[in-house]
Amino acid sequence: MAHGKLRQSLARRFDEELRFFKGWMDKPRAVGAIVPTSGVTARKMASVVNPASGLPVLELGPGTGVITKAILQVGVKPENLWSIEYSEDFVRHLRNAYPGVNIIQGDAFDLDTTLGDRRDTVFDSVISGVPLLNFPVERRVAYVEDLLDRLPPGRPIVQITYGPVSPVPVGRGNYSVEHFDFILRNIPPSRLWIYRRGPAA
Ligand SMILES: C[S@@+](CC[C@H](N)C(=O)[O-])C[C@H]1O[C@@H](n2cnc3c(N)ncnc32)[C@H](O)[C@@H]1O
Repeated sequence: MAHGKLRQSLARRFDEELRFFKGWMDKPRAVGAIVPTSGVTARKMASVVNPASGLPVLELGPGTGVITKAILQVGVKPENLWSIEYSEDFVRHLRNAYPGVNIIQGDAFDLDTTLGDRRDTVFDSVISGVPLLNFPVERRVAYVEDLLDRLPPGRPIVQITYGPVSPVPVGRGNYSVEHFDFILRNIPPSRLWIYRRGPAA
């Protein structure tokens, strides 16, 4: 019985990794990481969400959905989660795995187009898995500025990255940069950064 469960859970994990590799081989620059985000990292990222705010949550680059799952586990209702993913393969999988979540296929760098009618939505927080280091620094700064325009003052964007420094430099715009965590139990080890405007809320 225990063995059956273990086999099932390994099979599921393997399936996720295969799907991830497929996405990675099709578009290595867009996917970035080589193995799906670990549960530890996903839970830490989701910990910034305030489900009591009642505001929807914006997730960018959900990939295989490890972070999507962690966001739902902190108590966000599926219909209150908006997840934007570029890759068709991942989108198909995410719609199956997370019914009720608003999975939108589109570009996280062009949210007005991607969100359509919902472009003026105010979100509680942003959880971003988009591989920012693959994009020029000016685009990263513009990305953060655009996202902060969609949040109440003081609310966070949390960003995962694999480099030693913040992918969005300090002093390039109207935002603060905070090192949130370094997680060894991720392949490769990951760092989490928080960007916000004004004192933490
Ligand atoms: C490092 S992976 C995220 C890993 C994910 N947390 C997981 O464990 O599966 C980055 C994801 O961002 C997506 N992505 C890259 N550029 C994007 C963009 N401009 N808009 C939306 N999604 C994008 C990729 O397709 C990929 O699924």
